[in-house]
Amino acid sequence: MALINLLTKKQIKVLQSYLNDDWKYLILNGAVRAGKTVIDNYLFLLELKRIKKLAEIEKEPHPQYILAGYSSNSIYTNVISSIENQFGIVMKTDRHGHYHLFGIDIVPAYTGSVRGIGAIRGMTSYGAYINEASLATHEVFQEIVQRCSVRSARIICDTNPDIPTHWLKTDYIDNHDPKARIKAFSFTIGDNTFLSKDYVEALKAATPRGMFYDRSILGQWVTGDGIVYQDFNKDTMVVDEVPDDLEYYCGVDWGFAKGHENVITVMGDDLDTDISYLIGVYKSTGKYIDYWVDIAQQIQDKRGYGINFWCDSARPEYVSYFQQQDIQARNADKSVMDGIEYCSSRIKLGKFKVLRSCAEPFLDDLYQYVWDPVKGVPKKEHDNVMDSFRYGLYNQHKQLDNEFIPNIYI
Ligand SMILES: Nc1ncnc2c1ncn2[C@@H]1O[C@H](COP(=O)(O)OP(=O)(O)OP(=O)(O)O)[C@@H](O)[C@H]1O
Ligand SMILES: [Mg+2]
Repeated sequence: MALINLLTKKQIKVLQSYLNDDWKYLILNGAVRAGKTVIDNYLFLLELKRIKKLAEIEKEPHPQYILAGYSSNSIYTNVISSIENQFGIVMKTDRHGHYHLFGIDIVPAYTGSVRGIGAIRGMTSYGAYINEASLATHEVFQEIVQRCSVRSARIICDTNPDIPTHWLKTDYIDNHDPKARIKAFSFTIGDNTFLSKDYVEALKAATPRGMFYDRSILGQWVTGDGIVYQDFNKDTMVVDEVPDDLEYYCGVDWGFAKGHENVITVMGDDLDTDISYLIGVYKSTGKYIDYWVDIAQQIQDKRGYGINFWCDSARPEYVSYFQQQDIQARNADKSVMDGIEYCSSRIKLGKFKVLRSCAEPFLDDLYQYVWDPVKGVPKKEHDNVMDSFRYGLYNQHKQLDNEFIPNIYI
């Protein structure tokens, strides 16, 4: 079968570079679902074959190789199980958690935290494969590079883009010094000709405009610019009435001082249309916890007992006080970027609307909630309503999605 039927044009280019160029680092970066990991998994197998030969020549009885990824789960999903699906090669761990293939001892390293590199400290490696490299802490990445001290050791990586000042971009991808021997390939979603047109169109439609789109779809290393929720259109997304029978929940951002209002947002999902409505915003400064218990109990009286209050976990004493008053307070997952991407995506799809009676406090913050272009995250200003509604919307759906997953696969 011709190579073009097995690989995309961009993947063939990468393979040719792998085979013909003189490189120490081969870095595939760019859009999501673009085909980076699929080709890197293949190159990983070629590297293992190459190392097997090399170790034989060097009479090294125990050649080692680093397989790095953000977490044990992500290494398994992105690399190990993909290799099983792609090539029918089953890799099992030994009692140390290492994999073995072609006589190479493959040592996993988790790049998400410094603790994850315990396994490779002091090791001498013939090379490394680093999946989702931009998520690695810089220290861990450097440790992996240092471990690759065998003369012909090489490093292959794949990654999605991050801020333009990220160390992987400035120190490696943009480093064109021939002595550094770095080959970098940038992917867009269009490079993956195996994806169906419908899938790509649906993904584009659900990806928020601005930074998320430029990174995920176009594969660019960009930072946020302007307001965070750019797709919110007050002409079409502020509504005069909402359906009666909604599935209700709240978001809670604790606060007291001026500029740090306490905000409870009330939301409801229409399960028929999959549209979420913001139907209430309670915000105030200088109020003690009993005031907020009263509000939460009023909300419960109206919307039903046992509805979720997704709370800022920074004040555990408030969360447990709510619980003692029979309010279903739960610690929210506060992941800023994941939460914002989720909420923005619902906005872009027209699946989040705001009742006019509470539009003012929502829009007040929305239009002033802006990206910090240096850090690539939102500025911590005018963020109280924004945090509150994000805790509610993101966590309620994350929870539903998680509960839903087992049913899909049974
Ligand atoms: N050569 C190929 N042959 C068949 N399908 C492919 C090929 N390359 C990619 N795909 C399909 O495209 C999907 C996405 O590819 P891959 O996981 O490599 O993307 P990625 O760039 O690593 O994405 P992400 O940034 O989201 O991790 C794969 O799950 C697979 O279904
Ligand atoms: Mg990938």
